[in-house]
Amino acid sequence: MDEAKRQVIERVQSVRARYAALEPAARAAAIDALLREARSHKMWLDRPVEDALLRDLYELFKWGPTSSNSNPARIVFARTAEGKARIIPALDAGNVAKVRAAPVTAVIGYDLRFHERLPELFPLADHSSHFRDHPEAAEPYALRNSSLQGAWLIIAARAMGLDVGPMSGFDNGRLDELLFAGTSIRSNFILNLGYGDPAAVPARLPRLPFQDACTLI
Ligand SMILES: Cc1cc2nc3c(=O)[nH]c(=O)nc-3n(C[C@H](O)[C@H](O)[C@H](O)COP(=O)(O)O)c2cc1C
Repeated sequence: MDEAKRQVIERVQSVRARYAALEPAARAAAIDALLREARSHKMWLDRPVEDALLRDLYELFKWGPTSSNSNPARIVFARTAEGKARIIPALDAGNVAKVRAAPVTAVIGYDLRFHERLPELFPLADHSSHFRDHPEAAEPYALRNSSLQGAWLIIAARAMGLDVGPMSGFDNGRLDELLFAGTSIRSNFILNLGYGDPAAVPARLPRLPFQDACTLI
């Protein structure tokens, strides 16, 4: 076995062992903070989010998986009034105050030309020619994988102690004109980031029970 393969096996086994060794209370707290008790936020505490934290956030969520390791998401972090002004005209009226109040608004976009980076991101096989020859296949692929990357971003932000408020109440075409004109990038959804105001969080809504959402075959 070569050295690189041996290191991969060791790292996979190591993370399993370190997670299994956590005290049950520590494990439950981590799961609660990521999903079970984590909430979507609409109002924000007056506490800034530094650019360095946004870099740390990227360095964490980039590890979430995408098809052929394609990494199609492109993110614009608006954290100034000028940056927000490039987003606000595209928003539904009900989302304007939420974006204004948030320390950071992230636009999760996707690059329709993501395949140009595949030779470096997925050198194991040439998948880029497929999208070059079939441009119509690029959009659903990039949308699917940038949605996943947005979800990895949500989990990573929560793991770092940040709160999120995802939003799709905006005009994608208008936002693309305002932010991505002349580029191959399109908007997927928006995400406010910061420290949510617990006083503004409503009661938790239900989720579908297993039997309504899942099928065992
Ligand atoms: C893709 C997406 C789009 C959403 N769009 C909006 C939106 O436009 N405005 C809004 O106030 N909330 C929006 N939400 C928030 C959802 O209503 C919220 O996540 C859901 O009710 C679950 O709330 P909880 O996480 O607090 O349990 C959106 C959430 C997601 C994931």
